Amino acid sequence: MMSKDTGLTDLVVAITGASSGIGAATARAFVDAGAKVVLGARRRDRLDELVHSLGPHARAITTDVSDPDDCRRLVATAVAEFGSLDVLVANAGVGMYGSVLDHSDEEVRMMLDTNMRARFGRSAQPYPTSSRGGGVTW
Ligand SMILES: NC(=O)c1ccc[n+]([C@@H]2O[C@H](COP(=O)([O-])OP(=O)(O)OC[C@H]3O[C@@H](n4cnc5c(N)ncnc54)[C@H](OP(=O)(O)O)[C@@H]3O)[C@@H](O)[C@H]2O)c1
Repeated sequence: MMSKDTGLTDLVVAITGASSGIGAATARAFVDAGAKVVLGARRRDRLDELVHSLGPHARAITTDVSDPDDCRRLVATAVAEFGSLDVLVANAGVGMYGSVLDHSDEEVRMMLDTNMRARFGRSAQPYPTSSRGGGVTW
């Protein structure tokens, strides 16, 4: 039986926040569609487990999106391992629940850094290096 052409074959996709939840599920969906993925998050053990289960089209690098150097290393890993970066899924994020009075200034700063500055700030933002158009999805 011929496999369906998804149009995603060999696309190189970096996904932040890939160690759980939506990011991990997105990684699996891209690999199932024929893409190559580079996973970024802070929990290395979870990334390693996921790479193992996804197979040869997956790599991982420990990434804290609030650190611009980590974001640059994520891009560099995609280029070094797979030749380019076509799509970035900027998925990493944290939620805070309950009253703002229940959270310290440091917790609020960390949430804003992760969800806003790291996602939208140019200095921290990994960028696609694609010759196929490239794109960033939040
Ligand atoms: N689930 C929902 O209903 C929902 C609704 C609206 C928006 N969202 C957004 O969708 C995204 C994923 O949600 P989810 O439900 O899949 O949450 P999740 O399971 O808690 O996953 C969040 C991911 O972000 C990573 N992360 C957190 N801080 C990070 C940092 N500083 N650097 C790198 N990675 C970081 C976590 O990995 P590590 O801890 O290993 O770093 C984890 O892999 C989040 O941005 C969330 O705000 C979710």
